[in-house]
Amino acid sequence: MLVIIDHPLIKTKLTTMRNKDTSHAEFRSNLNEIASLMVYEILRDYQTKSIDVTTPIDYQFHGETLDKEIFIVPILRAGLGMVEGILNLVPQARVGHIGIYRDEQDFSAKEYYYKIPNVSKDSYILVVDPMLATGVSASDAINKLVKEGFNNIKLVCLVGVQQGVKLIQSNFPNVDIYLASLDEKLNENNYIVPGLGDAGDRLFGTKGK
Ligand code: URA
Repeated sequence: MLVIIDHPLIKTKLTTMRNKDTSHAEFRSNLNEIASLMVYEILRDYQTKSIDVTTPIDYQFHGETLDKEIFIVPILRAGLGMVEGILNLVPQARVGHIGIYRDEQDFSAKEYYYKIPNVSKDSYILVVDPMLATGVSASDAINKLVKEGFNNIKLVCLVGVQQGVKLIQSNFPNVDIYLASLDEKLNENNYIVPGLGDAGDRLFGTKGK
């Protein structure tokens, strides 16, 4: 399933991020804010279980808590820019990391880091990366998790294109994909058009003046 999360706040913040004159500080805060807004919507599908708490006036309250553990897996490095925004809403979430970089010559995905929490295989997993371009990095990341037996995976990106969406859907029909925008196409360097440039560089201020 592909879901484009349509919200005026997401649209306006994403427009700020697309602007080439937006500073890395502003890019970063907007990325985290959009991640929060998206996750607020995505978590509607998650189930809760009952939990009893005692209120300060000694009342036994039958409340609710998420029925499973949740963990976030940012694809390094740009995915890191979404973690804080998600943790603001789900502070109990654990964070795994998958390091994948794009080979500049053949655009293949190369893995250099993998560290995932030791939790139940049916935990809720949010794989996060702002850009879903060719889909190769996200596909590799999800493949590692599936091979380990995790079965409850959602992919959360800001901007994607059909090519990446199709790759994930054909490799992992059970993985839901969430985007803030489905953009037009990839250019000859596999950048998303109109896109927002190199998300990692813009997030960390590693290019330009
Ligand atoms: N990764 C990016 O950071 N930007 C793109 O446009 C595509 C992949």
